[in-house]
Amino acid sequence: MADRIFLSPPHMGTRELELVKEAFKTNWLAPAGPHIEAFEAEFAQVVGSPHAAAVSSGTAALHMALRLVGVTAGDEVLCSTLTFIATANPITYLGARPVFIDSDRTSWNMDPELLRQVLIQRAKTGNLPKAVVLVHLYGQSADIDPILETCDRYDIPLIEDAAEALGATYKGRAPGTFGKIGIYSFNGNKIITTSGGGMLVSADQSLVDKARFLATQARDPAPHYQHSEIGYNYRLSNVLAGIGRGQLQVLGDRVEARRHNFEMYQAGLGHLPGIEFMPEAPFGRSTRWLTCLSIDPERFGCNRETIRQALAKENIEARPVWKPLHLQPVFSDCKFIGGTVAQDLFERGLCLPSGSNLTQDDRLQIIQVINRLHEQINLTDLS
Ligand SMILES: Cc1ncc(COP(=O)(O)O)c(C=O)c1O
Repeated sequence: MADRIFLSPPHMGTRELELVKEAFKTNWLAPAGPHIEAFEAEFAQVVGSPHAAAVSSGTAALHMALRLVGVTAGDEVLCSTLTFIATANPITYLGARPVFIDSDRTSWNMDPELLRQVLIQRAKTGNLPKAVVLVHLYGQSADIDPILETCDRYDIPLIEDAAEALGATYKGRAPGTFGKIGIYSFNGNKIITTSGGGMLVSADQSLVDKARFLATQARDPAPHYQHSEIGYNYRLSNVLAGIGRGQLQVLGDRVEARRHNFEMYQAGLGHLPGIEFMPEAPFGRSTRWLTCLSIDPERFGCNRETIRQALAKENIEARPVWKPLHLQPVFSDCKFIGGTVAQDLFERGLCLPSGSNLTQDDRLQIIQVINRLHEQINLTDLS
């Protein structure tokens, strides 16, 4: 069988190994070291944020972000529903409760009007949430301005989960740099990876300093080991920061490669009835981290699961769009605000292999499998 085509595999450039070797040569393995500070400074420059702290994962960054804005047990936190569970898990780590908000169709991200309505209602009853967590999904920014305006009106901190949107823009700026705190992920499937890692950014230096403090077991500045708060072991290692520095140098290329995948898929599949591509909202530029489709089974002839299985048979990995968090068994007792937009995107949505190292042959094969499936279904219908 042909080699497996993965959904979004790592793609190293030419500098990463050299930088890792440098960490070995200088024995900065303990795990602190100079790559960490350099990675933070270079990352801050790339996204245009004054301050950044490198941590062990995007989830760790979110956990600290929520704590830094004062979320504690019993609080409610409003959160995008259409996302990976890592967005909401840290809310529960703090004993707080997520309240999920539906998507809009323009960007597939949090619907700004729904957020506005719910905060108007909650302000009337004195029941405002402690924070809002806004996700930028699949490489595309949410419509940040109206969301930020609503949050500011009620003095609610906005945390941006830009784990999937490094390299994207919103009105020319990087999503993740608008709210009080933004987070990114360098998990193995992300547009750049350190094999595992994350970044927390903020314009407020005191928040980023505090994140570094919490991430190193909240160790007080004393010659002995002294602790006045509970912290975490959440720092990124010097070795992995070396990989991150190398990956950062190729971020622009990775964005263009992923956008190219999208264009090729659109050219090869866009004519098929019932297939719609994730739209690119007019307010920003998506990285097309993943190429996502929505399939209307009536018009296409079969549902997204049949397409996914046809690809799987050829050793090609495709995945359904995230199952909304308000539909997850673990969050069945949580509140949800909205209708069926996210649910519909999940039921019809499919993510195609989107790696920046995908070859033209890979893309053609994927396009062919889907075209052939459509042809077969139509022939069966006619017979
Ligand atoms: C939207 C979103 N948020 C958070 C995370 C968590 O990042 P990490 O895997 O680095 O903990 C991910 C990905 O893994 C993600 O896709």
